[in-house]
Amino acid sequence: MRILLLGGSGQVGSQLLLTLAPLGEVIAPSRADGWDLSDPSDLAFRVEQLAPEVIVNAAAYTAVDMAEAEPALAHRVNAEAPAALATAARSLDAWLIHFSTDYVFDGRGSRPWCEDDPTGPLGVYGQSKLAGERAIEARHARHLMFRTSWVHGPRGGNFIRTMLRLAGERESLSVVDDQVGAPTGAPLIAEVTARAIARVTARETTRKTAPVQKALDLAGTYHLAAAGEASWRDVACEALEHAKARGAALRCGPEQVQAIPTTQYPTPAQRPLNSRLNTRKLREAFGLALPAWQDGVHQTVQALLAANPPTSSSQA
Ligand SMILES: NC(=O)c1ccc[n+]([C@@H]2O[C@H](COP(=O)([O-])OP(=O)(O)OC[C@H]3O[C@@H](n4cnc5c(N)ncnc54)[C@H](OP(=O)(O)O)[C@@H]3O)[C@@H](O)[C@H]2O)c1
Repeated sequence: MRILLLGGSGQVGSQLLLTLAPLGEVIAPSRADGWDLSDPSDLAFRVEQLAPEVIVNAAAYTAVDMAEAEPALAHRVNAEAPAALATAARSLDAWLIHFSTDYVFDGRGSRPWCEDDPTGPLGVYGQSKLAGERAIEARHARHLMFRTSWVHGPRGGNFIRTMLRLAGERESLSVVDDQVGAPTGAPLIAEVTARAIARVTARETTRKTAPVQKALDLAGTYHLAAAGEASWRDVACEALEHAKARGAALRCGPEQVQAIPTTQYPTPAQRPLNSRLNTRKLREAFGLALPAWQDGVHQTVQALLAANPPTSSSQA
């Protein structure tokens, strides 16, 4: 099976390089190879030339605050490029696997969001990701779309990396505690994605010989997040606690992390207060168990400490 992976240098994409490998031949061209998704004009043509059976799009414009000043660029990468990928998927009869975000919701209430709940993005990033979802659906390509939340992992910039750095530099931290969601590790997202691809493509190959449920029955949008819920402050405390337990010499421990409301940490883009995602549909459709968010946080802390053990100068 030939798989085209876009965004292979990102948090999720770099993990997908590992988890997709056993499924077949993975082609992962980068922006440096000329695959710039901000110019999607010939993207469908390029994809069709490669003729993959599965297209995995882990590329995205993810700078939530910068997007407020660059709406056209965010729209090209997050909506027009996915539209072109869906066009190619449709003409190749390939599967398109795409990722979206909790930021498509407005964050009202405290109930975990279901896939069919009304959307209402609060900022440009969420709007552009929602436009990407709609563009894919409108092209009727076979697709799996995974909305995930608060991604972290061993590679790239993320909240846990920032907390470990700041805790090495400062004696106290103030962290928002009224935005609630589930931090989700890129390795988990990549593992679930690979299993889902294996499942839908296996169903297809057996379709002709056995009366199995059609793979197409599994197509659609799913919420993919670690189990449980946390505020950003909870995540910071869990990460610092685990880092200390693993021997990191931090100036700021969990006891020195002050809770502040979002109103005391203004950002260019407004974030949803309720980022909880209901993952029942994914777990039932694919027969998966999703681990607690703390497991993923521990995994990322360990990976970051192993890659960059705290030194005396970084603790000063
Ligand atoms: N990060 C989060 O907290 C979060 C939360 C919810 C959902 N998501 C979604 O999850 C998916 C993966 O996110 P992530 O955190 O892995 O993203 P990431 O670490 O920011 O990586 C983004 C990837 O997209 C590529 N990319 C960006 N602009 C590009 C362009 N113009 N042309 C070609 N490639 C481009 C980057 O390539 P370069 O290395 O060349 O820049 C990189 O490989 C995205 O769909 C995102 O919207 C993320």
